[in-house]
Amino acid sequence: MGKYIIAGNWKMNKLPSETYDFVKEVAAKTAGAACEVVCCTPYVCLAEAVRAAKGTHVKIGAENLHFKDSGAYTGEVSADMLLDLGVDYVIIGHSERREYFAETDSTVNQKTIKALEKGLLPIVCVGESLEQREAGVTVSLITDQIKAAFADISADDAKKVVVAYEPIWAIGTGKTATADQAEEVCAAIRNVLAGLYDADTAAAITIQYGGSMNAGNAAELLAKENIDGGLIGGASLKSEDFSVIVAAAK
Ligand code: 13P
Repeated sequence: MGKYIIAGNWKMNKLPSETYDFVKEVAAKTAGAACEVVCCTPYVCLAEAVRAAKGTHVKIGAENLHFKDSGAYTGEVSADMLLDLGVDYVIIGHSERREYFAETDSTVNQKTIKALEKGLLPIVCVGESLEQREAGVTVSLITDQIKAAFADISADDAKKVVVAYEPIWAIGTGKTATADQAEEVCAAIRNVLAGLYDADTAAAITIQYGGSMNAGNAAELLAKENIDGGLIGGASLKSEDFSVIVAAAK
């Protein structure tokens, strides 16, 4: 299956002045990791994060980008700006951005296309709400989100995309999807990708689980066939917890 990637999503946490030491700590505690290790930080922390990660195995990601190249978009940040800093990854379409910042399947697709065109590695988030899960529409909703996100993306480019399955009801709530629930949806995502492309392309795509993944539950989730890593919120803010999750990804 896809390459194992454990990525932290700091969200709106940590200060620029705390970033250098923290990324150095992550690098030290995850030395020899069997998977890719990524810290996705707020825009204002990125320069320090890249400086700290230089010469280590840790890669740095942003939490968002704009889909235009440049221009009159006050407050926005372009792919070229991120690349100029030395950023490798970018999270796209996190449920918090969909909910609070009006991101849609269409903007997610435009941002994914722009990231790929410029050479950033997109981590595209999909996931259902509790109401949607209880209504039994999880797989059909996620199928729609995946199809929209990958529209007009070639098979070669698709292989560079990381998909993060993050059930909204499990984010920051301490309620993790069970390993079986997470595997069921991640397998469905791989199946949709195989339909859009082919089995080899689908197998090459990293599919992460995210939502209250922590040092205690990571090993069971990561042991599942279709879960190739994690997108970690709260537990990525403590280097000790994050390093235990990284160690569980073999
Ligand atoms: P938590 O790990 O805090 O639940 O957050 C998950 C998440 O949203 C990562 O993007």
